[in-house]
Amino acid sequence: GVTSSQPYEEFLQCLEFHDSNITSIVYTRANSSFSSLLESSIRNPRFDTSATPKPLLIFTPRQISHIESAIRCSRAHRIQIRVRSGGHDYEGLSYSTISPSLTFLVLDLRNLRAIQVDVPSKTAWAQAGATLGELYYAIAAESRTLAFPAGMWPTVGLGGHISGGGYGSLLRKHGIAADNVVDAQVVDVEGRILDRASMGEDLFWAIRGASMGEDLFWAIRGGGGNTFGIVIAWKIKLVPVPATVTACTVTRTLEQNATEIVHRWQYVVDKLPNDVFFMVVLNSVANPVQANATTIQASFNSLYLGGIEGLIPMMDAKFPDLGLRRENCVEMSWAKSILYFAGFPLNSPLESLLDRTISATGSAKFKGKSDYVKEPIPISGFEGIWEKLKEVGVQTGGLILASYGGKMSEIPESSIPFPHRAGNIYQVEEVAFWVEDGVEAADGYLNWLRGLYEYMTPYVSKNPREAYANYRDLDIGRNGGGGEGDYRRARSWGSSYYKNNFDRLVRVKTAVDPANFFRNEQSIPPLSSWR
Ligand code: FDA
Repeated sequence: GVTSSQPYEEFLQCLEFHDSNITSIVYTRANSSFSSLLESSIRNPRFDTSATPKPLLIFTPRQISHIESAIRCSRAHRIQIRVRSGGHDYEGLSYSTISPSLTFLVLDLRNLRAIQVDVPSKTAWAQAGATLGELYYAIAAESRTLAFPAGMWPTVGLGGHISGGGYGSLLRKHGIAADNVVDAQVVDVEGRILDRASMGEDLFWAIRGASMGEDLFWAIRGGGGNTFGIVIAWKIKLVPVPATVTACTVTRTLEQNATEIVHRWQYVVDKLPNDVFFMVVLNSVANPVQANATTIQASFNSLYLGGIEGLIPMMDAKFPDLGLRRENCVEMSWAKSILYFAGFPLNSPLESLLDRTISATGSAKFKGKSDYVKEPIPISGFEGIWEKLKEVGVQTGGLILASYGGKMSEIPESSIPFPHRAGNIYQVEEVAFWVEDGVEAADGYLNWLRGLYEYMTPYVSKNPREAYANYRDLDIGRNGGGGEGDYRRARSWGSSYYKNNFDRLVRVKTAVDPANFFRNEQSIPPLSSWR
């Protein structure tokens, strides 16, 4: 390794050479705001310890020319760039690394978050440093009947989220966020500013999860972040929603037939009208009727694109086992439904969407893994899941099921890099949360989660065992610690995330960044690195 002061000094000189005012947006470890700036968008406290590898410096560009200078100087001085938008990366790769000796800087896009909504054309330009909450707020300020089909947690950043896909309550009606990107502004490894017309389809496909040219444009729409270039802004297609939608929550414990209802849910959920989206959270809770005992709770959260009068008779006809009642439901605007599912009180102002300080897990550290279910899991399968959930404490581990079908089944697997389409009934996220400090505690929870994942094997997709790129999981494979990739090795985790789109992503990467400048522990490697 190199010592930290020397590359930093030379890097700074390089920046100043390009732009004499630039040093005001560079934070070194000696700067009194370095730690608070770094921590302010660490969204997984697991990567906020003294042992976590830290960047040499944080760079907060205010204009695109700053990013061009950062790329030129980083290349010249061999400092790796980790770009951060919202900081929600599950493995912390936007601000850290598994490699303690790596010299890297964080290019934090927090100041690039302008959003321009154009109602007549039903489109918006949104910069990558904006959050989902800021986007939804900006859309709602213009129209109650327009929305964007992306994720359900307000502080998630548009940069990473759309680069990996991005799903939420509108996926059965309108697909995912990356499906609804119509143009993008990207800075490539040469420091050039590209848009769809100048990049070609492949880059665009890739950044939505792949390549610019249409190849780069294909690649950036789901092919994973920090790989093909730095996305500055997305032009997105807004989608129509009714002025009133209905959000409902129904909880059932084992004593209230949770097993049978969840089992039945699998047979109806992907066939319901596209206006209904379901998420089911399964975890262990204190038993409400028996002291000092636990039970399993299934929490059915649904969003219906319409009023309650239309929803209740439809659910009575198609999914009577749930026993949905009016009192389980509330009518609201679509933007408010984001706050509802994020757990805000019902009377919260829409401005809560703008709060960048909220945390989904508080001080709890977490790890997530993902799966896709194509055949209903039998009752006995769920009974084994309940045993696993009972092994960990109350509210420390769980599964989150998200309904597929509808529009998701109509989009071809190769349309963008995100490949999880027809044939999936639902997506599963397996999660563990813990507040205890230290490696030993963490290992206990991680081993529990890996055991649950192992248990799920017979019930989920195979060859490949599919996974969602935005629920990054380094257990399924990775590049070297400095991000050095190898095609063969990468193909195993790459086909889990991208299925048959992986090879096209490699081709785009090889074309747009052959020296693998943009990289991390799970970025697509170029073919030249196949040694
Ligand atoms: P972050 O800044 O950490 O970036 C993630 C990756 O993209 C990193 O590799 C980073 O280097 C790269 N990157 C960031 N900005 C880039 C840019 N401008 N150009 C190129 N590369 C860039 N997902 C979902 O689909 N639906 C949901 O509802 C949720 N909800 C949710 C809640 C919570 C609490 C968390 C922690 C996560 C989610 N997610 C999610 C997962 C989320 O979509 C995923 O973590 C995204 O990659 C986060 O994007 P950020 O910009 O916030 O992360």
